[in-house]
Amino acid sequence: MEQNKKEGRYSRIHDQLNELIQKSRSVNARMATVTAVLHHKMDTFFWTGFYLLENEEMTVQMYQGPVACQILEKNKGVCWAAFNKKKTVVVEDVHQFPGHIACDSRSSSEIVVPFKNLEGRIIGVLDVDSKEKAAFDETDARWLEKILGLIYKDL
Ligand code: SME
Repeated sequence: MEQNKKEGRYSRIHDQLNELIQKSRSVNARMATVTAVLHHKMDTFFWTGFYLLENEEMTVQMYQGPVACQILEKNKGVCWAAFNKKKTVVVEDVHQFPGHIACDSRSSSEIVVPFKNLEGRIIGVLDVDSKEKAAFDETDARWLEKILGLIYKDL
């Protein structure tokens, strides 16, 4: 997507989510709504959802898209890489990423953003896959990080 168009789209999504999340103080409701709005408003998002660390296991939570891996093998793949590095990871071609976990063979590129709780501790990640190669860049990283910041807002 062209950069200006992407900026505009994310800006509108952010404002819409900012309004929506205030209607509930449930973290689960907010995560689900972030997932739904992103998935349906961003054309290239093929799989959009959260993985959280539960009993030491990176476990799938609410998501939109094809059925996903339920638990990700520890310290393998893109989600674990972002979680361990404590920073957003953008992968232009998942087939070139050593250890990438393919839940759906149609995915070509991916972005994974660490998700922090109220105390600022990273508790999991937001993962987005695209069928297009190199669908994600710094603009996606910046906006998705900002959007994740809405989930614990004013709690
Ligand atoms: N590709 C991810 C696994 C999750 S799915 O893409 C939904 C990874 O390598 O961690």
